[in-house]
Amino acid sequence: TGFVGMALSYGLSLNMSFVFSIQNQCNLANQIISVERVNQYMDIQSEAAEVVEENRPSPDWPQDGNVELRDLKIRYRKDAPLVLHGITCRFEAGNKIGIVGRTGSGKTTLIGALFRLVEPADGKIIIDSVDISTIGLHDLRSRLGIIPQDPTLFQGTVRYNLDPLGQFSDQQIWEVRCTQI
Ligand SMILES: Nc1ncnc2c1ncn2[C@@H]1O[C@H](COP(=O)(O)OP(=O)(O)O)[C@@H](O)[C@H]1O
Ligand SMILES: [Mg+2]
Repeated sequence: TGFVGMALSYGLSLNMSFVFSIQNQCNLANQIISVERVNQYMDIQSEAAEVVEENRPSPDWPQDGNVELRDLKIRYRKDAPLVLHGITCRFEAGNKIGIVGRTGSGKTTLIGALFRLVEPADGKIIIDSVDISTIGLHDLRSRLGIIPQDPTLFQGTVRYNLDPLGQFSDQQIWEVRCTQI
């Protein structure tokens, strides 16, 4: 029985070493990955300018909401194939437009292009006679609205979720009504 006891106690301590060794390996892997990530983030190309001083849209732009696409071509990387192959069309202000197509046909890409999440390879998007590639990203993105497919609530109050940037007074928020349905 002494032999069995010894085997058990050695066996147990071996178990502990095993756990620690695995934990150490995981920690090491995680830390190496952090370095890899930082390295990756260092090489990200920055986006276009937030504000282009010499070409700012008027404060009430877009006045109507006419959206015109002219031969819009989009690819995600220089050597990647085109995702949108030269779309030309016009969305008249005040209309409700549905865009349909199978998965991967470029619906999300088109919406992304309106916000310049991806820049066109060719062609342009004109909203109320402003070519959106000529203005700053902040000016563009702050004037368009989007309701995403997945609802997202930020941690905090309902008021904060309605107006995360704190741009409006309580009175203004109470008075919000949907003007175009
Ligand atoms: N971030 C991305 N990088 C590279 N290719 C992408 C990216 N997003 C989408 N794509 C490609 O672009 C095409 C259109 O995708 P997407 O616009 O998401 O289509 P949809 O929204 O109509 O399903 C697909 O072939 C997809 O693989
Ligand atoms: Mg999509």
